[in-house]
Amino acid sequence: MIPKLYMAPIRGFTDTVYRNIFSKHFDGFDIAVAPFISTQMGKRIKPSQHKALLPENNTGMPVIPQILSKDPDGFVILAKHLFDMGYESINWNLGCPFPKVARKGRGSGMLPFPDIIESFLEKTLSAIPNTLSIKTRLGYNNENEIFLIIPIFNRYPLEEIIIHPRTGIQMYEGTPDLDTFEKCLLQSAHPVVYNGDITDLDTFRTLSGRFENINRWMIGRGALTNPFLPATIKNDEDIFPNKIERMKRFHDALFHEYRQILNGPSHLLQRMKSFWKYFVLSFENSRKNQKKIQKTTSVEQYEEIVARFFETGNLKLND
Ligand SMILES: Cc1cc2nc3c(=O)[nH]c(=O)nc-3n(C[C@H](O)[C@H](O)[C@H](O)COP(=O)(O)O)c2cc1C
Repeated sequence: MIPKLYMAPIRGFTDTVYRNIFSKHFDGFDIAVAPFISTQMGKRIKPSQHKALLPENNTGMPVIPQILSKDPDGFVILAKHLFDMGYESINWNLGCPFPKVARKGRGSGMLPFPDIIESFLEKTLSAIPNTLSIKTRLGYNNENEIFLIIPIFNRYPLEEIIIHPRTGIQMYEGTPDLDTFEKCLLQSAHPVVYNGDITDLDTFRTLSGRFENINRWMIGRGALTNPFLPATIKNDEDIFPNKIERMKRFHDALFHEYRQILNGPSHLLQRMKSFWKYFVLSFENSRKNQKKIQKTTSVEQYEEIVARFFETGNLKLND
């Protein structure tokens, strides 16, 4: 069974530019869920978000837009707008753990309130032309909240449920709770996508060995760190030559494109430095190199340090 691989939405990283460039340089992902857009009071969609999601700007791989919202009316307006843009399938974010979001009862902050989730689905599903999938955690405060929610999901015609088996308050600490995930799998009437901490082929093999009925896997940070990972999983072996050279070309393409569209050198540096928090994890001496890159204060200095790094860096990955 060939796994279907989803690029996870990672706000500030897996945007349109990244997704397009990724698909030119690497294989393996079948589809991407885009980072969330929020409903705006009374407005349809921000022009910049509309532009980023225009199908002609997203030719690299199929995309499912994601909405973060607790407002059914705003959600319906946005979903219809996305449908008119060509998006038959959309995703609802019930997983975001960031306090700014969760404290307002959005994202994973809605998970302690099954009644609100049910009323949201009741109001929106009959009013939108799109099919809906949901991305969720196990709960906000604890991992049992999900068991009051799955029966609700089961009553509605959802496309699939993507589960990241942590709680909201856990953020990204600890390890994914595979036992609770397994129970969810048994209870869900909908197809389930596993998401969380797939960082290498061995982890994937262990997970796919345990959850034999799952064929849909979402990968986020693991592919930000090692962009060969999706193709490695697809091929079930790690056989790519010239990895450093290919990572350099990928990096350079991102740098070039963000240089065109971001507003000024400090935004460019900030964006590229964020990527390096993940890229360096593929290299030996990641901490030392990370510091050098994070300390750069001009684009020229950044280019110099990064060029030297690619010439001398040693990958931890097979090369
Ligand atoms: C910086 C950051 C931004 C994220 N943005 C989103 C988002 O916009 N929507 C979403 O559903 N999940 C978001 N996530 C969660 C990821 O999609 C994913 O569920 C999580 O990273 C676990 O998967 P991984 O271990 O494969 O990275 C974000 C995660 C991080 C670290």
